[in-house]
Amino acid sequence: MTSPRLRIAVTRALPEPVMDRFRALHDIWVNPDDRVLTPDELQAAASGADGLIVTAFDRFDAKAIAALAPHVRFVATYSVGNEHIDLDAARARGLAILSTPDVLSNAVAETAMLLMLGAARRAHEGDRMLYEGRWTGWTPTQLIGREITGKRLGILGMGRIGETIARRARGFDMTVHYHNRSRRPPEAEAGATYHATPDDLLAVSDVLVLAAPSSKATRRILDTTRIARLPASAIVVNIARGDLIDDDALIAALQSGHLASAGLDVFAGEPRLDPRYLALPNVYLQPHQGSSTIEARLAMGDILLSGIDAVMAGRTAVNRLV
Ligand code: DGY
Repeated sequence: MTSPRLRIAVTRALPEPVMDRFRALHDIWVNPDDRVLTPDELQAAASGADGLIVTAFDRFDAKAIAALAPHVRFVATYSVGNEHIDLDAARARGLAILSTPDVLSNAVAETAMLLMLGAARRAHEGDRMLYEGRWTGWTPTQLIGREITGKRLGILGMGRIGETIARRARGFDMTVHYHNRSRRPPEAEAGATYHATPDDLLAVSDVLVLAAPSSKATRRILDTTRIARLPASAIVVNIARGDLIDDDALIAALQSGHLASAGLDVFAGEPRLDPRYLALPNVYLQPHQGSSTIEARLAMGDILLSGIDAVMAGRTAVNRLV
């Protein structure tokens, strides 16, 4: 049974087919400006709503949660990341929080592969050479990269996205190593080698992929000391959150040549990224595109809709965080 029509405020324009599905079931208000709302605007949007659909760029700290009108029953984030929401405050207020786990794992894992390959094969330099009209023809010494085939892949954060990256990487004969807060069961490991500390993982990572959520424990986890543990000419990929990396440390290692290259989809302080990245030849950058496929976007909408249904009907929802 689906819940009665609800009043839902959506803080950013979502893809039209997703909006169509929402509108068919509920009375929807959408932020007409398609920009991040200010805290006051967020509260105003919530003032006439039973619930909100938000993004990872809408902050719900304890203060914002306490200020929500009492009729707001849920906040559903159109993201798998939830570091923008104070879950303890939501629990205390009785506010249901929903997110979009798993449905974007394929999309993000494909981005991880894209970044690995783009960084390893100097895709950015090749693009520039062509677009700037500097290509003078094939030469045996042109843009020599590295293969990821057969290399050791280190995955920091072995959740569902990490597991999916591991499966894709095995297609490249990579041997998979990982660190996670807790060791995963054998079926999730699928032969991957567990390392009890990030430091142990780094020492064996020819390619390191950051796939852990942003939290107190992971912020700036990749700093100067840890980067020094990576094998010479390693490649760093970040599909998680920009604040996992100490930008000064990564940039220095890319400049010195200790690291061969990096592939980055996320940045501290988005959309402003450290401008030094733009001047480095050995980085391959994407503008936070990890989950941006039509398949993932549709599934993200659907999982939020069914979670909202479940919350309103008092059922459990697989994507309910609190
Ligand atoms: C996510 O789902 O967390 C993406 O990074 C978008 O915020």
